[in-house]
Amino acid sequence: MKKIIITLSSIIVIIFIILMIFLFNTNSKDKDINDVKENETTENVPLEENNKFRKLSYYKEENLDRYKSYETNNPNLSIEDTVTRVNLNLDKEVYTDTIPSTNLNTNYLLVNKFNYLDSNYIPNNLELLDNSYAKSGIYLVKEAKDNIERLINDAKNDGMNIRVISAYRAYSYQDKLYNNYVKNDGVEMADTYSARPGYSEHQTGLVVDVTRAFDDFNNFENTDEYNWMLENASNYGFILRYPKDKEDITTYSFEAWHYRYVGVELAQKIKASNLTFDEYYVRYLESDKN
Ligand code: DAL
Ligand code: ZN
Repeated sequence: MKKIIITLSSIIVIIFIILMIFLFNTNSKDKDINDVKENETTENVPLEENNKFRKLSYYKEENLDRYKSYETNNPNLSIEDTVTRVNLNLDKEVYTDTIPSTNLNTNYLLVNKFNYLDSNYIPNNLELLDNSYAKSGIYLVKEAKDNIERLINDAKNDGMNIRVISAYRAYSYQDKLYNNYVKNDGVEMADTYSARPGYSEHQTGLVVDVTRAFDDFNNFENTDEYNWMLENASNYGFILRYPKDKEDITTYSFEAWHYRYVGVELAQKIKASNLTFDEYYVRYLESDKN
């Protein structure tokens, strides 16, 4: 009899505990729901407004106010473009609030007027290009070098004559180059076509400037080689980095000759997306890689 009483009381205690846990959970859920309802009734419109930004995977809470004011100033942009541009800092003056680039020595390395490389950054695995592919003294990261050689060989089979005229540029070289341009054209003009030292993608060792062999690179846009590159470069891992009509995003004028190596898979995706590397980075690479 004693045993039965003990068992029964244990069961009652257990049932009581389960009941208490259940009641506690229900209450806290109700509280959450009430919190949301309260917000919705007091701030109904702003909450909905913010949600259209929040639903994007690349939304950053700390940028919310900037999205809103960018949208006010650029009412014709889509929500996606608004968030992308603000995440790229395009609501700020170039070369302000700059940060060191992450993903060093990877194909995901982003360098632009807000993301810079240290003056002593030298990429790993730089290799000299053979004179049959490039001007003398031109270096590239090995993976990019292997692929540009493959590209130039295949292009030759299609009757195209492509040659590399610039690739890896050391910080000190970019410094000389940029300051020469400033001397000749002034800062404002120079900034439209040349990167300041530390801000040049050429320092990554993942970039080539190409021409039709022995032709002026300024004429590249008018050649069959240019069209061949537009069509095929992504199959070798290269993307046109500063396209026409994307100047407000890249902050550089169109460069028909400047190609960036990102690897074949990524290059094909970027080409298909019709986005610049900057935009693609913000939307699909930044959160994955950091
Ligand atoms: N011309 C490109 C933007 C550079 O200077 O890196
Ligand atoms: Zn270039």
